[in-house]
Amino acid sequence: MKPVPGILDIAPYIGGRAEAEGAARTFKLSSNESPLGPSPKAIEAFKAAAGQMHMYPEGSALLLRKAIGETFDLNPDRIVCGNGSDELLHLLPQIYAGPGDEVLYSEHGFLVYKLAALAASAKPISVPEPNLITDVDALLRRATAKTKICFVANPNNPTGSYNTASDLRRLRAGLPAECLLVVDAAYAEYVNRNDYDAGVELAATTPNTVMTRTFSKIYGLAALRVGWAYGPEPVIDALNRVRGPFNVSSPAQAAAIAAIKDQAYVKHCAAHNATWLPWLAEHITAAGLQVRSSVGNFLLIEFPAEGDKTAAAADKFLMQRGVILRGVGAYGLPNALRISVGTEEGNRAAVAALEEFMK
Ligand SMILES: Cc1ncc(COP(=O)(O)O)c(C=O)c1O
Repeated sequence: MKPVPGILDIAPYIGGRAEAEGAARTFKLSSNESPLGPSPKAIEAFKAAAGQMHMYPEGSALLLRKAIGETFDLNPDRIVCGNGSDELLHLLPQIYAGPGDEVLYSEHGFLVYKLAALAASAKPISVPEPNLITDVDALLRRATAKTKICFVANPNNPTGSYNTASDLRRLRAGLPAECLLVVDAAYAEYVNRNDYDAGVELAATTPNTVMTRTFSKIYGLAALRVGWAYGPEPVIDALNRVRGPFNVSSPAQAAAIAAIKDQAYVKHCAAHNATWLPWLAEHITAAGLQVRSSVGNFLLIEFPAEGDKTAAAADKFLMQRGVILRGVGAYGLPNALRISVGTEEGNRAAVAALEEFMK
């Protein structure tokens, strides 16, 4: 049996490492998880759901969609929940693209877009990104009648850069009408900029834009796999037809509802990030390294390409001290490492190790 074209071209996604062999203590700053974990209310809700694990979940995640709708003032009928936003990002090319079609994304954009295009036997098209920020004009120049999906991570992982609301409006206006624009706003809750929109506006007002979101980041529920998409009814209808009928488990739904209702806790997590992201940037820069400006919960650190202070050498040195960062060679950034904002202790350990490395 031969898989359909594209499948064997997929290099399986490798998540952030969790172990540092030999280190007495480890600080996992490799997957942009929330260092503060979920709201205690989400943990309680998860535990309370345990007694019902013999029952199938409510398949449409209705209560969760209502809770999301109330929080963001969105119509729950135009929301679909997924097994992580990953599931939805994978399903969109299956619905809208196939052999002979093209799927656009930015050169250093989130890796899943390429995998999702290949899984649908569509052609992934990486568009150059000279300044480590998604280049709307370059995307528009490359779009053709064959372009069925354009993915934009906003903010983008691993660069931390973002596109303004007006940039995205311009992108939408310039893309072919038959091309679905997917705005992946996994880190939206961390962004603190007046000219940013998570994609709500375009998803609400245009017939061909969908926004994806996740509970894996600020809500601290990465292990439970809950994401959602908001978009035009026909797109949500199509996603509902192809998703697994019970794609979000009951404990995950319960925990996500409690998490999104606890906005005081979300604010607490955003404030932690707003304190420690600039702290990390300042101290890593003072240690003699370059960091990219980031609006997410992570930073891209650039290392010299040659000599004894390379990204690979830093990674090895930090691992020995239990500080686990993320290599981003797979994103076309072999001379950089990505660090997630951690707990105070994790951040201080990372900076101390980087300072020692740079001495
Ligand atoms: C830009 C971006 N989109 C989507 C995801 C996937 O999130 P989820 O856990 O909801 O599948 C990630 C996770 O790292 C991400 O960085």
